[in-house]
Amino acid sequence: MSQMDTLLDKGKQALGWVDERFPLTSLYKAHLSEYYAPKNFNFWYFFGSLALLVLVNQIVTGIFLVMHYKPDAALNAAGVPVAFASVEYIMRDVPGGWIIRYLHSTGASAFFIVVYLHMFRGLLYGSYRKPRELVWLFGIAIFLCLMGEAFFGYLLPWGQMSGWGAQVIVNLFAAIPVIGPDLSIFIRGDFVVSDATLNRFFAFHVIAIPLVLLGLVTAHLIALHEVGSNNPDGVEIKKKKDTNGIPLDGIPFHPYYTVKDGFVAVVFLMVFSVVVFFAPEGGGYFLEYNNFVPYDALQTPPHIAPVWYFTPFYSILRATTSNFMWVLGALALIVGGLTVVSTKSKNVKALAVGVTAILLAGFALLDAKVWGVVLMGGSVMLFGLLPWLDQSPVKSVRYKGVLYASVLSVFVVAFVLLGILGTKAPGYAFFGLIPGEPVAAVCSVLYLAFFAFMPWYSRMDATKPEPERVTWK
Ligand code: HEM
Repeated sequence: MSQMDTLLDKGKQALGWVDERFPLTSLYKAHLSEYYAPKNFNFWYFFGSLALLVLVNQIVTGIFLVMHYKPDAALNAAGVPVAFASVEYIMRDVPGGWIIRYLHSTGASAFFIVVYLHMFRGLLYGSYRKPRELVWLFGIAIFLCLMGEAFFGYLLPWGQMSGWGAQVIVNLFAAIPVIGPDLSIFIRGDFVVSDATLNRFFAFHVIAIPLVLLGLVTAHLIALHEVGSNNPDGVEIKKKKDTNGIPLDGIPFHPYYTVKDGFVAVVFLMVFSVVVFFAPEGGGYFLEYNNFVPYDALQTPPHIAPVWYFTPFYSILRATTSNFMWVLGALALIVGGLTVVSTKSKNVKALAVGVTAILLAGFALLDAKVWGVVLMGGSVMLFGLLPWLDQSPVKSVRYKGVLYASVLSVFVVAFVLLGILGTKAPGYAFFGLIPGEPVAAVCSVLYLAFFAFMPWYSRMDATKPEPERVTWK
């Protein structure tokens, strides 16, 4: 027996020892070497593994940041808040601290870019449809956690935008009838954003939300591997198997996709490095310029805007004025009326009438500010209804008709415009000519209409028959 054989033998023995105590080999087989993924994955399928990569980056860089960061709003001997000064210390004095900080702060924006593209793939190929409803719902929960994580994290550098951004958002909760004012004090732990707020946001940012996030990502992947991946054709590959029970259009995830994803990870890291090294503030979009000024509770910055990834939803909040309530009322009436006309079930008819009446009464009685907050939160939650709103006989945009392709394009344009407008101060006009406010109102309606009318347009769409097997060249 050669030395190599002895070594291999020892390795096998060690693996056998582990396998008797922990299902290492069977987990490896189930999730990698014998997990059969469709062979026709394309560009849009890279973003799931990239999201995992960015998640790891955030956790590792976060751990190193916590070693030097201090969540303390008190002023130091130089009159600078300790939290703000500790970030400056990381940037200037800690060896390698600047790159760790920029990897983390740029990583937050990268996370949202990757996750938005990952979600868009779902809209393109109907990945939220049966049997992947839970994969999607876990995804929505991940997205909500991610938003919470980013919001709590942004307070930590204790700059002007940190403090004032948190103040604006926490104040929104005060608009909720009855419990609102007390709720916002409860969230802040004080009447204004203060040391108590900083400490609780720190606790949520470094431990509570990351724990939930990791649990949700695990559940997301377990659910995905239970039902198997969708693909650009929306064909269920498990329907056509060979005599060994292996999907005819499936290939083992490892080595085929591990190699492909590995290559894409390298390309992503190259692009990411260019941003980290040459434009870490992303032109004021990843880290706002005002956040390099320590938080001052007595000096409001001239323009408070959330970071870019929140701005589409922030725009919807700002567009919800008292005049906009008339538009919402009309939308509720149309959707309610359509439901009554198009269903035979008496229960559904009664439900539609009831919900519409409650909404109309609510629109009349409650302040537009309250509805702005409801719409801002609701516009994220609406994604969670997609598995049930989409009634198309096919999943993928490849076999859906021109109608869905057009509606999806309009939705994307509306979402981007809302995002751009959310970064601008009120009164902004495109090219100094087209006022932003009406554009935001129209885009908000288009955003809501994408979901509200889906049950109808997805049925009306002239679809093409889905192929039996995936198309692949
Ligand atoms: C931390 C964030 C996330 C991570 C690490 C993650 C990870 C992954 C991975 C590794 C995959 C398999 C590879 C792929 O299909 O791209 C996947 C699939 C999927 N993810 Fe996510 N995901 C995240 C967030 C989300 C969000 C926010 C949503 C939607 C709201 C979502 C919805 C889906 C769906 C529907 C699939 C199945 C796609 C298909 O089979 O066509 N994910 N995810």
